[in-house]
Amino acid sequence: MTRMGPTACVIGWPVGHSRSPLIHRYWLEKYGLDGDYVATQVPPDRIDAFLAGFAASGFIGANVTIPHKEAAFRAAAKASPVATALQVANTLWLADGAIHADNTDCHGFLANLDERAPGWDSGGAAIVFGAGGAARAVIHALISRRFDPVIVLNRTLARAEALASHFGPPIVAAPLTDAAQFVPDANLFVNTTSAGMADAPPLTIDWHGAPGDAIATDIVYTPLQTAFLREAADHGLKTVDGLGMLLHQAAPGFERWFGVRPVVDEALRQRILADITGRGA
Ligand code: ATR
Repeated sequence: MTRMGPTACVIGWPVGHSRSPLIHRYWLEKYGLDGDYVATQVPPDRIDAFLAGFAASGFIGANVTIPHKEAAFRAAAKASPVATALQVANTLWLADGAIHADNTDCHGFLANLDERAPGWDSGGAAIVFGAGGAARAVIHALISRRFDPVIVLNRTLARAEALASHFGPPIVAAPLTDAAQFVPDANLFVNTTSAGMADAPPLTIDWHGAPGDAIATDIVYTPLQTAFLREAADHGLKTVDGLGMLLHQAAPGFERWFGVRPVVDEALRQRILADITGRGA
């Protein structure tokens, strides 16, 4: 493969949907830097070997997406406190020939809300819908901003309970069907489920009694305005879409690899939005 200067990649399976090359190439161009960023598809049965050979691959670092984030964490010689807490990594770089790992999903989640809903973290109760891998990063982020309780509502109660025992007391686990009893007391609502993505049927939430100054956010950004966000807005809540989380989680990796802390600006958001609209989900 012919590469243009220092090159990073996104590793996933599949990876064709990833907007990461667009994001990083935008910043490389904006800051006039020599380098490139490409998508690298690695099947599950090849990921351990791929990461074992990563230091010799010529790449300077990588983002890692589904389903390889656990393998990326395992392959790292050194991991940041957040990656260690979550046991998953989405950002890799090389130092002294060894893989170092971070998890920037928490940062992306927090930076998006800090930017689009200043004051969102004044505390109180938060509800997290879903209990998968994405929920873990969100819960870690909410605990870091002292939300208490963090109520995890999931279709499969056992997965919410597993998160409650992993994270401890601020977490309350309950079945999704109990949502109505928690909604009136929460200040923040986060959808981490894959329901409502592309063609999947949306979550149906009884928003009755939700506080008028509460905020709803979705980590899904395809579509940008999910049914979850539309219904929350219909009930008078402020909403924050998930695109900013994608953009902000990319910044720490770019800085590691290319030496410039990039700014998430409106032109970048518009470029990614155009791609989402143009390609559909
Ligand atoms: P990720 O790692 O991206 O979070 P995941 O581990 O597959 O993905 O988790 C997906 C989440 O969406 C889960 O909480 C899942 O609920 P279950 O644990 O009961 O499977 C939730 N989810 C997916 N489709 C859903 C639907 N139609 N209604 C409610 N929850 C749904």
